[in-house]
Amino acid sequence: METNWDRSSWRRKTRRQMPDYLDANELRSAEKNLNNLPPLVFAGEVRNLKYELGRVEAGKAFLLQGGDCAESFEEFSADLIRDTFKVLLKMAVVLTFGGKRPVVKIGRMAGQFAKPRSSDYEAVNGLKLPSYRGDIINGIGASIEERTPQPERMIQAYTQSSASLNLLRAFSQGGFADISRVHSWLLESTKGHTGYKRFSDLATKITESLEFMRAAGITSENADTLRKVDFYTSHEALLLEYEEALCRKDSTTGLPVAGSGHMIWIGDRTRQIDGAHVEFCRGVQNPIGLKCGPSLKAEELIQLCEVLNPENEPGRLTLISRFGADSIGDHLPRMIKAIKGAGLRVIWSCDPMHGNTIKSSNGYKTRPFEKILSELRQFFQVHKSESTYPGGVHIEMTGKDVTECTGGIQSIHDEDLLSRYHTACDPRLNASQSLELSFLVAEELEKCFQP
Ligand code: PEP
Ligand code: CO
Repeated sequence: METNWDRSSWRRKTRRQMPDYLDANELRSAEKNLNNLPPLVFAGEVRNLKYELGRVEAGKAFLLQGGDCAESFEEFSADLIRDTFKVLLKMAVVLTFGGKRPVVKIGRMAGQFAKPRSSDYEAVNGLKLPSYRGDIINGIGASIEERTPQPERMIQAYTQSSASLNLLRAFSQGGFADISRVHSWLLESTKGHTGYKRFSDLATKITESLEFMRAAGITSENADTLRKVDFYTSHEALLLEYEEALCRKDSTTGLPVAGSGHMIWIGDRTRQIDGAHVEFCRGVQNPIGLKCGPSLKAEELIQLCEVLNPENEPGRLTLISRFGADSIGDHLPRMIKAIKGAGLRVIWSCDPMHGNTIKSSNGYKTRPFEKILSELRQFFQVHKSESTYPGGVHIEMTGKDVTECTGGIQSIHDEDLLSRYHTACDPRLNASQSLELSFLVAEELEKCFQP
């Protein structure tokens, strides 16, 4: 691979999963506008995240990454962001307690708008229409007009991301995330569920420890770590016109940084070594995620690591495996062996969502909670037998009380799915299922540190 890189060098590579805009002038004008806008995240924050992920790679911290499959223009609200943030905070508390180590928190938020699709067309109400590719590209409505890619959607996605980040910065730094408020993060919608009771018991234990610390002179007034959290954003870097326009030079190091989010990842459908997405990502300084599905060969994986992380820098590369509960056992061990054999430093994270999508008996795209938990359990087991560190989880979830994945404490059945099925793309865990999952992961983490 040539080493010459600039933020538009991806244009010389094969373009996959990206729209062909009909009006070149409109596209140029949207790109120009974005180019003149400030980046959404800053180089110093990106460096901090890489440092924290380096600690994950070293087995000293755990990564929690979660949020929407696809953010939507229509569903955008402060309450939604607050509730998703609350669930992630609660999950992080459960994991910190179980794993006895810090949790690096990254939202699939403030930029997660573009979606790869398996097919260019889909049938909606009997009509054959171009597939919906996320609100940053086209509309979800059932008409040709809606489905036509519109460049100015990139500006709306930027504006919404900027408003989301503003809120997330306020929530994480402005007192809302103060650990002494841990009881107030409980969501009404989960009242009565086992997760609610378990979390509130844990919150009581934490409050008792805080009282002890207060007596010893440590309070959230004098210890910032109790009052604030570091929260980062991430998304799939799929729409490269958008990524290019927000890519900037770090004024300290002179090196390029993707300004669209702290961490970006490459999807399972766009990870070709000679493709445009790998080309763009290899040149930016941000932490990079790489989705690893069953079709990824070990040699390809090694080549990708060499291209994306030539210096073997800790914290740079997170491998997000997404095989499915029925095939993780066939693929994860061979990938770990290959990475170990090549001496590469990566973070191993498990996405137990994308390999477990099925159609329900009444036609909904869903994911059985049991399969999700089963993939997670196997992820921990495989790492235990390979003596590698299971560094993180990557999930699609929301703070809303949706009914999109079956199972869990609420025991959601196929026939319940229609009641609150709101996702713009894949089925997400709701608040209760997310919390339940965090208790399972905490137990597995606890076990993995036992001799
Ligand atoms: C996603 O994370 O939303 C996604 C499309 O995942 P994958 O690339 O792993 O299929
Ligand atoms: Co998805």
